[in-house]
Amino acid sequence: MRIGVLNGPNLNLLGRREPDHYGTQTLAEIEALLVERAEASAAELTFFQSNDEGDIVDWVQANADLVDGWLVNAAALTHTSVALRDALAGSDRPFVEVHLSNIFAREPFRHTSLLSDLAIGVIAGFRASSYLFGLEALVRVLQGRGEAGAGKAE
Ligand code: DQA
Repeated sequence: MRIGVLNGPNLNLLGRREPDHYGTQTLAEIEALLVERAEASAAELTFFQSNDEGDIVDWVQANADLVDGWLVNAAALTHTSVALRDALAGSDRPFVEVHLSNIFAREPFRHTSLLSDLAIGVIAGFRASSYLFGLEALVRVLQGRGEAGAGKAE
């Protein structure tokens, strides 16, 4: 099973960026935790982070046929990007949307996600653990062990 792990703008700064919202772990540390967890499920992870919307769309397109599903923290693009929404929809692969912070407890503009209705599920607010919970949920669905809500997995 192969999973593409996508991180959007400014997540390269994790560890020193607004730790009250995003915690203190770096993206490299989070990725290492995911690799460790994925090994137990025999899942292979491919990581990508970019601050550029076009590069992210290109990466989704280039990897769609290579992965079974996506773990996505689109960061600010969550709230703005029709292009990323269309790329994920076009990939025809299920994805779990994750956020370090609880976006629903923050500014109103963060309460809207252009991705959530396509996602098989959304996990927000658990800092780095959001990724681990998201991976677990996605693996369970891909293995046919978990149920998914509305979204591309149905
Ligand atoms: C975020 C929440 C977004 O609103 C924000 O723009 C981010 C990170 C999160 O993980 O909590 O960059 O996706």
